[in-house]
Amino acid sequence: MSHSQPVTVPCVMKIAGTGSYVPERVLTNADLEKLVETTDEWIMSRTGIKERRIAAEGEATSDLATKAALRAMEAAGVTAEEIDLIIVGTISPDTFFPSTACHVQRNLGAVKAVAFDVSAACAGFLYAMQIARQFINGGTRKTALIIGADKLSGMVNWQDRNTCVLFGDGAGAAILTAKEPNDGDPSGVLSSVMASDGRLTDILSVPGGGSAIPITPENADQRLNTIHMQGREVFKAAVKYTLEACEQVIERAGLKADDIALIIPHQANVRIVDAIRERLGLPPERAFLNLQKYGNTSGAAVAIALDEAVRSGVVKKGDNILLVAFGAGFAWSASVIKW
Ligand code: UT7
Repeated sequence: MSHSQPVTVPCVMKIAGTGSYVPERVLTNADLEKLVETTDEWIMSRTGIKERRIAAEGEATSDLATKAALRAMEAAGVTAEEIDLIIVGTISPDTFFPSTACHVQRNLGAVKAVAFDVSAACAGFLYAMQIARQFINGGTRKTALIIGADKLSGMVNWQDRNTCVLFGDGAGAAILTAKEPNDGDPSGVLSSVMASDGRLTDILSVPGGGSAIPITPENADQRLNTIHMQGREVFKAAVKYTLEACEQVIERAGLKADDIALIIPHQANVRIVDAIRERLGLPPERAFLNLQKYGNTSGAAVAIALDEAVRSGVVKKGDNILLVAFGAGFAWSASVIKW
């Protein structure tokens, strides 16, 4: 199985604005100590997570996504009517159908857009970015809204300490626009990788609730509609595949690791981020981390981190930044972007 298909089309796309939203309710490690047999010390030392946000009762993934989208639209100076493509990367859709993207389209009044979801778990936002990039580079769409949004609090088994300490809810968004190829502005995507390995479907999944294993009164007590994860296997695959992807996109951009001003990685575990960063030979300040505040927000994580890095001024005009994410599938994606 090959994992290294490059996306080599010339770039006529730029990121015009970013936005993010996290719910107000904070769930700390101390709160979790009251729910399961765990400690703040274990969670901090094994993951780096201190607290996470939990959506309010009745707050759906599309509500989180819409709030993030409005902030990205404001930053980009783009109206709902101008958006002609909406892609939401999510594994916690409002409904099996219609898509969460259609719910967002309705909320925004983006009447001219085509809207659909992409299922790539934690790589959802970067998959959405690559798909939108194909539309824009192909000339069929000009203004795309891409969103990574997940509400995993509704899919977690709150009695399973192996998983419930890891996840949080949130959404991040970006507006991508077409630009003239020879306008003198070097910003845009320099190189990308999108890949998946279906041999690893079993190491991270919600096994029940779909067509394969419907939830029935007989199996309801097995909690098959919650996240099941082989943590160590996921850890190993994440380090292997995302390191490989980082090296590929750096090389294909014609750069060296030291040319990357900032890695904005998936926010699953600080030890995974450290392993990748160290193997690239980069110091700690070159990796952006916010998992201590939000935990792993799945498809939203890289998008929220990108927005925070941009708004806080950590990302500067002209910087080469590396976005990288991995998740269930196994699915992963990386991009080098000149800001
Ligand atoms: O977006 C992708 C999503 N998932 C990931 O990225 C997860 C990748 N994996 C990881 O981040 C790590 O594997 C974990 C954080 C999930 C677990 O860390 P670990 O260092 O791999 O721990 P482990 O699973 O090997 O468990 C070590 C011990 C076990 O006890 P024993 O068998 O050694 O007695 C676990 O039962 O830690 C125990 N343990 C806990 N203890 C306290 C597992 N979860 C907890 C907990 N609190 N929450």
